[in-house]
Amino acid sequence: MESTAPPPDAAGPPPGATRSTVTLHVNGVPHRLTLDHRTTALDALRNHLGLTGTKKGCDHGQCGACTVLVDGRRANSCLLLAVTLDGSALTTVEGLADAEGLHPLQTAFVERDAFQCGYCTPGQLCSAAGVLQEAADGHPCHVTPDTAQPGAPVELTAEEIRERMSGNLCRCGAYPRIVEAIGDATAHPAAPPVPHAVHGLGAVSVHERREAAS
Ligand code: FES
Ligand code: FES
Repeated sequence: MESTAPPPDAAGPPPGATRSTVTLHVNGVPHRLTLDHRTTALDALRNHLGLTGTKKGCDHGQCGACTVLVDGRRANSCLLLAVTLDGSALTTVEGLADAEGLHPLQTAFVERDAFQCGYCTPGQLCSAAGVLQEAADGHPCHVTPDTAQPGAPVELTAEEIRERMSGNLCRCGAYPRIVEAIGDATAHPAAPPVPHAVHGLGAVSVHERREAAS
């Protein structure tokens, strides 16, 4: 007699297979979480850990409001499934400052008045922290001169900053002062390094995304 049972791939996941327990190290604190596999890192941070500094703008990888650092590299947390980050170190805007005070980027944003409503600001700050590290590590971007020494620290000119920050939108149009603030922080001798990248998504500018999609 022919079986009426659905084929294995049509039966759906077995009970218990829709959630996993992972450890996320967020701002230096380990958190053990049991999460639905569909939970994004953004929702894990905001809804499970109460870290609402990271903002949800588009929820589609288009605006950069949700930018955090994953093992020291910039990533849109709305595009990451939290269960894929087991063991990773995440830095959110809440983790930029330390016991000594604000991160130089935060100080520069305040001094330059580099925001209006502030909704994009956490993502701008985390992205800028990634930019400082990428430039210090010698990672070129689309506008880096061809004559640049491979692997040598890249000078963050206004053009470099604009290109590298092009994935972070600001609906208030605070761009000129954001660029100035990041430039100020670049010159700050005490700018602390972000955690060294172990794995995770790299910084991807709008231009690079377009090139990858073409
Ligand atoms: Fe993630 Fe817009 S909320 S890129
Ligand atoms: Fe309002 Fe950037 S300060 S969106």
